[in-house]
Amino acid sequence: MPEYSTYQELIDRDGANDLDAILSVANPYVGQQETVVADGADTMFTWDYEKGARPGLNKLYEKAKTSQWNGQTDLDWSIEVDQEAIAVFANGAEPNWDAMDFDPSGTPLAKWTSKEWTQWGIEQQNWSLSQFMHGEQGALLCTAKIVETVPWIDAKYYASTQVMDEARHVEVFAKYLDTKLSGHYPINAHLKLLLDDIVSDSRWDMTYLGMQIMVEGLALAAFGFIHMMTTEPLLKQLLRYVMSDEARHVAFGVLSLKEYYAELSGPEIRERQEFAFEAAVRMRDRFLQQEVWDRMGVPVSEAVSLVMMSPEQQMFQQLLFSKIVPNCKKLGLLDAGATNGQPGWLRQKFGELGVIQFEDWVDTGEEYESFALDAEMA
Ligand SMILES: [Fe+2]
Ligand SMILES: [Fe+2]
Repeated sequence: MPEYSTYQELIDRDGANDLDAILSVANPYVGQQETVVADGADTMFTWDYEKGARPGLNKLYEKAKTSQWNGQTDLDWSIEVDQEAIAVFANGAEPNWDAMDFDPSGTPLAKWTSKEWTQWGIEQQNWSLSQFMHGEQGALLCTAKIVETVPWIDAKYYASTQVMDEARHVEVFAKYLDTKLSGHYPINAHLKLLLDDIVSDSRWDMTYLGMQIMVEGLALAAFGFIHMMTTEPLLKQLLRYVMSDEARHVAFGVLSLKEYYAELSGPEIRERQEFAFEAAVRMRDRFLQQEVWDRMGVPVSEAVSLVMMSPEQQMFQQLLFSKIVPNCKKLGLLDAGATNGQPGWLRQKFGELGVIQFEDWVDTGEEYESFALDAEMA
């Protein structure tokens, strides 16, 4: 069997954790009104209209039709959002370098008072919601593509409901940013690289793997974490609604790919493992918030190293993979290619990224109903 690709081939650098290389990725999308990406895929008609040939997908489709909500009227937009208070609540009133186990002397952070600290918290909110909004647009475009490219009628039906869901998600994140927060950020370079990779791959299952399994798996975990931590009632409500849809979307990916991957050859599965790893690294890199430090006038490299060291951030970064890893396991991607005494390649890579411990967490193919709006979320 041919060897796996090198890191250089997969992620344009020699080591996954090479911080200088991560930060040197330029963002060519700043200041653009639009970007064109060729999607290179065939559009597929099917003449087999048998609804319910794939019962799991049919059930999701029926569920989606009765789970629609209206971002304009179901969320309480009259709630006032005090960004400053949120920043102070989340990060404390002043920098506490001791608690972060960081010595700021000799860096511009040494001069930070509560004013800069609070502004940093505000920028973080603007940045993080902006990236979610851009990611939601990625989901909108990818799912529209799936409607065209997937061969099964049950999947085309379901994907069409997801297109509507994603339009609503872009809409509510954009409205929240515009009316409750205080500024947009352009898309993060690593997130855009990932979305470009997903969109430009001509194979329909790669759209699912990149979007439904990796990007949306991460979003579901991130939204869950923020939903639990935030005290801002409008954002809490917004995330609760969005998560009820996202859990279905991830389940859509798991159910569709489970069937398809069972038929693929070893080398074909290996390509999917590599794609999943590349996506995982890009997503980890996209969470370093380098643009926030830049806007605050702080040398990015030092500041990002600081964030990477903080135990809280490490926990958050790992939790982001709590859906992805069990879902990859369910799809057979973790252990495919394992030989006597040699673990599967993706298992090894997820081990290196420090996220393999989630492999036995519940997969989203099973748990999506517990996220429904009328269910009591665990
Ligand atoms: Fe979404
Ligand atoms: Fe989604």
